Amino acid sequence: MPALAGGSEEAVLSFLAEAGDEFVSGEAISDKLGLSRAAVWKHVNALRAQGYRIDAVPARGYRLVEIPDRLGPLELRPLLSTSDLGQTVHAFEELPSTNDRAKELAEEGAFHGEVVIAEAQTAGRGRRGRTWASPPRKNLYLSAILRPDLSLQRVPEITLVASVALCEAIREAGVDAAIKWPNDILCGGRKVAGILTEIAADPDRVQWVVVGVGVNLNAAPEDFPEELRPIATSVAAERGGPVPRALFTAALLARLEAWLERHAEEGFGPVRARWCELSGTLGREVRVVTGDGDVTGVAEDIDAAGALLVRTASGVRRVLAGDVHLLRPR
Ligand code: BTN
Repeated sequence: MPALAGGSEEAVLSFLAEAGDEFVSGEAISDKLGLSRAAVWKHVNALRAQGYRIDAVPARGYRLVEIPDRLGPLELRPLLSTSDLGQTVHAFEELPSTNDRAKELAEEGAFHGEVVIAEAQTAGRGRRGRTWASPPRKNLYLSAILRPDLSLQRVPEITLVASVALCEAIREAGVDAAIKWPNDILCGGRKVAGILTEIAADPDRVQWVVVGVGVNLNAAPEDFPEELRPIATSVAAERGGPVPRALFTAALLARLEAWLERHAEEGFGPVRARWCELSGTLGREVRVVTGDGDVTGVAEDIDAAGALLVRTASGVRRVLAGDVHLLRPR
């Protein structure tokens, strides 16, 4: 990937990215960053040469219109509003699985918030031993290394924190997404994103948690294996236009960090409440396929461990793991 020339260029880019759709004057940029107007102009042109589209309009200033479709640290860093998450990005053109690399890095002592991103995965993993289709340069495959101060019993809460952040980020991208228990994100009944959480723990304390997130952002139906086409979708397909992947990634990391902080400060209560608001499962008639057979009834609630409570003909059943099938359309 081509490198940005240096700190000032990145600072100009950050300033433009922060302004979103608004124009910012050359004067405001040069005052804020302590650069001459000529230097600002030079950096804008250097950014354009790297694929950034920046409008320049006399008397209004500059506006960032398009960023290159790459997920390297140099594209992401200027867009990040986080303190920890994504401040170190390990970016790869291809990996077997970002979760596997993140686990190795965690074992080697990586810090809380370090993130692994790949443009493609050759052995992307889903829940319950499934594979995760990972076509190159279309989607987001990201694993975050977290070191929460939590007991082992409370680790499942982290996956719920992540599904809340992920669902909100997808909604922010303009798509009506909902969470299907435990942590699938669906749009119009089709899967758009999923989370695979892996951990290492001592008997009393968690060492690390790797939260692996796969989001179908710009994949077209033909990018998925044929058997997935009826059940998978992408944010671009749902909203009818491509998603700037770096912007989406930065927004997701911001939401994940905000929810992790809230969880650390206020506990599971607010996470659970938000999860319930975003859920497309609660209140529905479901059949949950578990390792111990099927559980059929109405999905009533989740408990503090993230287990699904299903009211069956013989009482409430607590389900810790399984695949939910909705029995009736709403
Ligand atoms: C699921 O819904 O089954 C979970 C899918 C998780 C996929 C992501 S992609 C990034 C990370 N690396 C992996 O190998 N898996 C997760």
